[in-house]
Amino acid sequence: MSPHPASPSFHVTRTLAEDATEAALRADVLHGLTGTPKTLPPKWFYDARGSELFERITTLPEYYPTRAEREILLARAPEIAAATGARTLVELGSGSSDKTRHLLDALPQLSAYVPVDVSESALRGAARTLLADYPALDLHALVADFTRELTLPATPGPRLVVFLGGTIGNLLPDERSAFLAAVRAMLSPGDFLLLGTDLVKDEAELVAAYDDASGVTAAFNKNVLSVMNRELHADFDPGAFEHVALWDARAEWIEMRLRSVRDQVVKIPAVDLVVDLAAGEEIRTEVSAKFRRTGVERELRSAGLELTHWWTDAAGRFGLSVSTVSG
Ligand code: SAH
Ligand code: TRP
Repeated sequence: MSPHPASPSFHVTRTLAEDATEAALRADVLHGLTGTPKTLPPKWFYDARGSELFERITTLPEYYPTRAEREILLARAPEIAAATGARTLVELGSGSSDKTRHLLDALPQLSAYVPVDVSESALRGAARTLLADYPALDLHALVADFTRELTLPATPGPRLVVFLGGTIGNLLPDERSAFLAAVRAMLSPGDFLLLGTDLVKDEAELVAAYDDASGVTAAFNKNVLSVMNRELHADFDPGAFEHVALWDARAEWIEMRLRSVRDQVVKIPAVDLVVDLAAGEEIRTEVSAKFRRTGVERELRSAGLELTHWWTDAAGRFGLSVSTVSG
């Protein structure tokens, strides 16, 4: 290789071995479906079809978080650029990277973009258009689980780690504190975290965002059953479940569930499991926690991060914060 300075490039690194993914899915399913209540972990939503369905969710009239966060990014990207001077952008759970373009456009000094996602199809789709639109950028796509240890490529600092979409709300409280501590460990002094958090609001507005009239969210929720059918040779009948979204006012999170519409027995040969479901019994598939500024600031501080900027959209539905390593 000739030592061209900063010659742009594109890499995809997969740190999720296919067989390790299989083993993790089997362990999660075995653990989740033999517990009380039954649960399934959310990262298994995002196969190619799941990623596609999520992109449709982001355009639904009821699903305000994407539009609200985009509004803040558009308004604040210049301030984010000035505050961070980022040369490397690391994005966790990057999906389509669509909103991220507002940051890429505002960061003239940026040299590398490192999108990290479990969905290889989403990463490849994003990379295809980013390569064309940002030809000078080094693109290192990482197929990885952001709840595990990440090995980041050696790219120039300062580093800005971004975590958008309110995805942090999909982690349970103890997973969240472990996650923030791990993010803190990824940062050196002078690096930053940009975090998107959906905010507590009127119950009807929240529930509608997770139970839309056209049924896209229901299809997204049920897609996890198709993933188990394909990967674990299970015989779930998606038609025998209904999508449930409810607001837990005490925990301040939306809980997504799949409710069995009849007594049924499901076989999951790959984990040697037979699951009995009574009519009306529910499997919890996902939580989406909603936040308040004080809580975000407190959780960041517990992880050794200090909030330096806080913005919301005009309607106050969504929060975006910048934080940095505490002194
Ligand atoms: N950031 C985008 C996508 C949010 S959806 C947006 O704001 O619109 C959540 C994304 O996180 C999906 O692309 C999903 O594939 C990814 N994801 C979920 N759990 C993950 C995990 N444990 N590790 C890595 N990526 C994950
Ligand atoms: N991060 C998104 C959120 O919490 C994920 C999401 C949106 C989701 N709609 C969903 C997850 C429906 C499961 C079911 O808003």
